[in-house]
Amino acid sequence: MGPGRPSPPRRLEPGDFAAIRDALWELTGIDLDDYHTQQMERRLSAWLARCGVETGQAFARLLWEVPEELDRFRQFLTINVSSFYRDASRWAELEHRILPELLRSSGRKGLRAWSVGCSVGAEPFTLAMLLLERAPDGVHRIRATDIDRGSLVRARRGGPYGERELLELPSHLAHRFLEPTGSGEAFVVKPQVRRLVHFMYGDVLRESMPSNCYDLILCRNVVIYFTPQVRAQVFGALARALRPGGVLFVGGTETISHYWELGLEYLAPSLYQWKRAPSV
Ligand SMILES: C[S@@+](CC[C@H](N)C(=O)[O-])C[C@H]1O[C@@H](n2cnc3c(N)ncnc32)[C@H](O)[C@@H]1O
Repeated sequence: MGPGRPSPPRRLEPGDFAAIRDALWELTGIDLDDYHTQQMERRLSAWLARCGVETGQAFARLLWEVPEELDRFRQFLTINVSSFYRDASRWAELEHRILPELLRSSGRKGLRAWSVGCSVGAEPFTLAMLLLERAPDGVHRIRATDIDRGSLVRARRGGPYGERELLELPSHLAHRFLEPTGSGEAFVVKPQVRRLVHFMYGDVLRESMPSNCYDLILCRNVVIYFTPQVRAQVFGALARALRPGGVLFVGGTETISHYWELGLEYLAPSLYQWKRAPSV
């Protein structure tokens, strides 16, 4: 079974959605109710059609019985596309304007950062490279979490990464911090960069959040499919996990609506600063 026997997508019946949602919750802890319902229903019906499965109940049975099917479905849901220095102008702003100020104000010898939804590691490794450029003697720690265990395996190995994932990375960073694998067009990240990043499983919707902890949090292209309420809850919790003056870096096409209610101040596109606890 799996994609490859397409039939036209059909509208999902309410029972279909519930059957898949319940199976997924029990098997993985992912709750489809946290996601934008209409988008999710469209994606689910397209996936069922690609799998050639008629009903939600039949698909739920498949998820219980065939672990590979569950893996494929989880990958489809989580969409783990990523690349180095993604949305270059935003990274340039971070590199030249934000990082120097964060390094100056951190009060420690280095930065403490968290990449939420780090996928295959391109995002936290980009940050690690910039920190090594800007403050090579600093003691930097980057925590990187994701719910996709397959992506975390590649991230922990430092690659390999293909040319498509490296397109936006400035060439001086690529030359300094990547090395060829010797096979095809693939590259891996050098150990000096890997040492800064600690990868672990983490679900941003379920894990307990610290407060007043990080200088910088990256949560980019992770919440796009969540409902507006869940999105606001996630950004609110991440804001509180920052130390005063800490910065939240979101995706190139993302904005935080009512950011001031979360105690954030707008710095530049995709960049917000934690100022104060919001009044209740
Ligand atoms: C589109 S990728 C973005 C990767 C990277 N942040 C970037 O912008 O290039 C989204 C990632 O978020 C992860 N993700 C989705 N839901 C998550 C959750 N609840 N907790 C943690 N990670 C999640 C997915 O597994 C996927 O790897």
